[in-house]
Amino acid sequence: MARILTGIQSSGKPHLGNILGAMKPAIDLSNDQKNESFFFIADLHSLTTIKDPKTRIENTNAVAAAWLAFGFDTSKNTFYRQSRVPEVCELNWYLNCFAPYPMLANAHSFKDKSDRLSDVNAGLFVYPVLMACDILLYDANIVPVGKDQRQHLEMTRDIASSFNHQYGDIFVLPDAQISEEVMTVPGIDGQKMSKSYGNTIDIFQTDKALRKNIMKIVSDSTPLEEPKDPDNDITFSLYELLADADQIAEMKANYLGGNYGYGHAKQALYELIVSKYSKEREAYNHYMENPKLLEEQLLIGEEKASNVAKEVLSRVKGVLGFS
Ligand code: TRP
Repeated sequence: MARILTGIQSSGKPHLGNILGAMKPAIDLSNDQKNESFFFIADLHSLTTIKDPKTRIENTNAVAAAWLAFGFDTSKNTFYRQSRVPEVCELNWYLNCFAPYPMLANAHSFKDKSDRLSDVNAGLFVYPVLMACDILLYDANIVPVGKDQRQHLEMTRDIASSFNHQYGDIFVLPDAQISEEVMTVPGIDGQKMSKSYGNTIDIFQTDKALRKNIMKIVSDSTPLEEPKDPDNDITFSLYELLADADQIAEMKANYLGGNYGYGHAKQALYELIVSKYSKEREAYNHYMENPKLLEEQLLIGEEKASNVAKEVLSRVKGVLGFS
């Protein structure tokens, strides 16, 4: 049995790119009988950038609601908020003392964030150590992440192996699972869909707002009557990621045939999202309107997670002479 572990920061509402690129593949992996999954909401990590408690709680609920709406099975797996298992903060201190300064100073994500953000705090700097703690505290074997997290996983392995080298086999060495062909979902401007580019599609908003969001997808100025090139159009690329083979073939014929405008294609994409995700959108809204239901599921997961965390932490404290 492999233990899969992954976290999503609660720095915003999950968008179509998060759902197709990270959440769906992780849920598929968790449904494999051979695996046991630990999925958590990295709310402590989000404090590096989000200081307003109300916003953070809302985002945390939104991420939790999205996991559940897309069918994450909390009876078989473990589902929790990072902050509710505070052992991770204690481990964080211990491992800070094993994380070489130059390794952290060389992290791409730190360099990128410190160039971009006005609030460059120590939390951003030790972000990879807290992430290592998230993984090592739960004896995780496999960590499915995007390519941008590869270096963080390497740091996790480096910290764990140098600790093990000094103190014996305390930590399980995790493997990153980075699928190279992870779907790159284009945003409404054609760049990779990302909150930091402001080009996302939020499938959970109201019908009206969703339609408006989709109508903003960038397209060229080919006149309505003329044939259009499906392979060079953002609306078509998105449609292709969501539709079945027959729908895709029909849409392609519409593009090539002329007398079919981008507005028509966007309307079709909107209708597809509404019908394809009707169950998930309804479930998401139900959870967001009844946060007690989220809380119930999270509390169960947090108890399970705590038990594992306590055991691993006591191994660490034992060898360090703190118990
Ligand atoms: N850093 C990850 C991201 O931004 C989120 C994260 C925090 C995470 N802790 C983790 C992912 C542990 C996997 C395992 O996407």
